[in-house]
Amino acid sequence: MSGVTWRVTEVVFDAASQHAGESLFALGNGYLGTRGSFEEGFPGDWPATFIHGVYDDVPIGHTELANVSNWLPFDLYVEGEHFSLDSGEVLNYQRELVLRQGLLSRTLRWRSPAGRTVDIAVERFVSLADAHLCAIRYQVVPLDFDGQIEWRAGLNGHVENRGVLHWDRLGQGAQSGIVWLRSRTRGTGIELGQAGRLKVTGAEDVTHFCLDCDGQPVAAARARAREGRAIVAEKTVAIFTSRETPDPCAAAIEKLQNLRGGYNDLRTAHLAEWEKYWAVSDAIIEGDDEVQRAVRFGLFHLLAAAPWEDKHVSLGPKALSGFAYRGHVFWDTEVFMLPFFTLTQPGLARNLLMYRYHTLPGARRKAAANGFAGAQYAWESADTGDEVTPTWVPRQNQRDPVRIWTGDLELHISSDVAFAVWQYWQATGDDSFMADYGAEIILDTAVFWSSRVEWNAEKSHYEITNVVGPDEYHDRINNNAFTNDLVRWHMETAQQVWRWLEQKHPARAAELADRLKLQTQTLARWAEVATRLCLPVDPSTGLLEQFEGYFHRRDVNLAEYEPRTVSMQALLGIEEVGKTQILKQPDVLMLFFMLRDRYDQCSLRANWDYYVPRTDHTYGSSLGPPVHALLACEIGEPEAAYRHFCRAAQADLGDVRGNTGDGIHAASAGGLWQAVVFGFGGLRLTPEGWSATPRPPAHWQRLAFRFYYRGKLEEVDWRRETQSK
Ligand code: BGC
Repeated sequence: MSGVTWRVTEVVFDAASQHAGESLFALGNGYLGTRGSFEEGFPGDWPATFIHGVYDDVPIGHTELANVSNWLPFDLYVEGEHFSLDSGEVLNYQRELVLRQGLLSRTLRWRSPAGRTVDIAVERFVSLADAHLCAIRYQVVPLDFDGQIEWRAGLNGHVENRGVLHWDRLGQGAQSGIVWLRSRTRGTGIELGQAGRLKVTGAEDVTHFCLDCDGQPVAAARARAREGRAIVAEKTVAIFTSRETPDPCAAAIEKLQNLRGGYNDLRTAHLAEWEKYWAVSDAIIEGDDEVQRAVRFGLFHLLAAAPWEDKHVSLGPKALSGFAYRGHVFWDTEVFMLPFFTLTQPGLARNLLMYRYHTLPGARRKAAANGFAGAQYAWESADTGDEVTPTWVPRQNQRDPVRIWTGDLELHISSDVAFAVWQYWQATGDDSFMADYGAEIILDTAVFWSSRVEWNAEKSHYEITNVVGPDEYHDRINNNAFTNDLVRWHMETAQQVWRWLEQKHPARAAELADRLKLQTQTLARWAEVATRLCLPVDPSTGLLEQFEGYFHRRDVNLAEYEPRTVSMQALLGIEEVGKTQILKQPDVLMLFFMLRDRYDQCSLRANWDYYVPRTDHTYGSSLGPPVHALLACEIGEPEAAYRHFCRAAQADLGDVRGNTGDGIHAASAGGLWQAVVFGFGGLRLTPEGWSATPRPPAHWQRLAFRFYYRGKLEEVDWRRETQSK
């Protein structure tokens, strides 16, 4: 069985942290994700299942992944007494997620208010072998009585997204032991079909029956249980939406009717699929169990949520584990999570990039609406690619709402996407993707930039004014070094891609030239923008000014605010923090994270020394710590690297920001992998090949990982004992 580093275990249930637990113990299979709420519920819980692409309209945030009918309900009655953690007495308890297997289990001993004691063991999974199937196995052993056990396994249509109701219920029913529920999203008209059934074994006299509660069909069973003898109930649920099939409810019922075998067969198939993922995607760290577990925890959630069939969806900052950010897609995916997929599961990376290809029409609409040419990706994107960032949001305990500028001004997303396409192509050599899809993304976003940059005649350079960089503590700023230099990279890369396309795929080049209106002058213009785009840099040190005027903002010694438990923005207020040099997350340093080979060590040192002390590491963005960990490896500061790394590793398992309940931090998980592989592993990919110069922390005994480079599976396996020989 899997060892401690493959397990996330909870030995005491604390109601105060139940929401964090629901996120930590979430399961997923690339089609849907289900929070780790209890089968029997608990007061104040936030059970949720999200299905990729099932968006519905919502005020302020435009659209969100709609929490679908709850497939978990599985209630146990012991001689008529309902089992729940808030009644009777819990004599022992353990909840465990086995990351290697995608299995969530709970074992506990419970004494009912009337004094009957049972051992309970519940295990569930959402099948990685068949994305439309979920299953729960529920075992009960009466310890001090013979008596009646009853289970009610339901589908609950009474669900909400924190107060927002998305579903019209269209019907429910029962046929030959299968209960079903049909519903439809109110705004987008997506139909959902669920079917469930219950099977009891281990008891002689079992009665199966169905209950038809409003919006909540239930498959139930009653049995006589004997002291010391286990009886087991298995619940199997099938789920489809009209995104896959015209009659999802019929498909769900049919799926269950045609199912051969029981829980164990489904489980075996499921485990085999997880093995395949881990065989390539695992990153092994020996000598540091905490960190090993955290890395695997993050990879588990990334793999659990990554769409392996659907090329029209992508991953949000919370993957499929929570309500926050409404399932919108940010740069988190391309810059933080994608490299893990590109290198270990290139097929998944391709799907995620195809989402960006399919949402080009939305990006073109956004550019046109703003008066620009080409494609401008939405800062927050959902099903269509149109901008879905809220413009104003209510401010806690205050009358006036806050203006959110990121949707209007956080422009670097267009180049982040282009960068990810380029990185995928470089690592995989997937020329057909590049020719058919990737090139169009890089080129049309270059067209956007070419129309967006502004010529400053006085200074005789191009500039980009009125933007937001990665550090969102500062908005409406001019010439953000990160944005400008990334655009410079973009303009250069677009020329390269264009030449490649003309040479290798002339027909496609001609077609794109026609459609995107690319002419000889276009290339010349890109070259000119690349050379004459301003970049505020001190030539003697390489220190970049984060944006024009940044160095004149108030300098603050962050140490003076310690100890604290909230972000500097929460402490000083939105307006005040903007007047200082405090950073929410790496901004200039993101250039060194993404475009490491374009800068030398001296300039990394100058920028590291300046910006790291001014960053709100613990309570700013969770995207920051893995970036700092990786760069500290580059700069040769192993202790700092490990410190930042542990901060990233604790993002969810330690609930550092107190918001894990809203969903896990998927970008941090992807960043953590990058810190392991590119940081401590020292992996470098160049067009000529790859190299690795591992530089792990002193107490690590082994660091090993696999990755695909140009279609070939490669391996780095560093062991301390072989080093010291
Ligand atoms: C960060 C962004 C990030 C977003 C979603 C924000 O707090 O500043 O960089 O994209 O969260 O994770």
